[in-house]
Amino acid sequence: MQKMPLIALVAATVLLSACSDRIKDTHPQQLVSKRQAVFKKFTKALEPMGLVARDRQDYVKASFVASAQALQELASQPWPYFTADGNYPPTRAKPEVWSQAGEFKLAQDKFLAATDALVQVAGSADVAAIRTSVEAVQTSCKSCHDQFRFDRQ
Ligand code: HEC
Repeated sequence: MQKMPLIALVAATVLLSACSDRIKDTHPQQLVSKRQAVFKKFTKALEPMGLVARDRQDYVKASFVASAQALQELASQPWPYFTADGNYPPTRAKPEVWSQAGEFKLAQDKFLAATDALVQVAGSADVAAIRTSVEAVQTSCKSCHDQFRFDRQ
């Protein structure tokens, strides 16, 4: 009988430490979770196009156009979740998102323009032009991350 509480305590401690490296998004509108979910979809949409650009996958017009359009559809979605009250754990966004809002907007516009340009060439079967456009999109992702996202926290 004496052992039960100890076992319960050990179990609770294990559970707690398992949770502690995963901070919950407690905001009523789940802003961080929602924008992170869109960013994950960015990666999913971009991945098959990256394979084509690196000659690791054949260019198939219909599926490439679909991927480009999917990315364009997603491209405007994360930004409304970066509201004034949206800087809280577990975000990886740097404070500059809020303190340099104009710069952050410029980085969004560059990315949106790169995505539009990719859609323009997506159906062309001109793999060289497609490669250039995919790389421009990847560069716009990366330069925003360099400026506005912590590597890991
Ligand atoms: C204008 C800036 C900007 C652009 C452009 C941008 N990102 Fe991000 N990205 C961010 C910020 C800021 C975060 C951190 C969000 C947070 O944790 O609150 C982020 C987070 C992410 C994450 C992590 C999501 C998670 O679950 O933590 C991935 C993956 C990602 N971006 C992929 C991409 C890809 C792929 C592109 C280009 C197709 C892209 N991003 C374009 C700013 C940008």
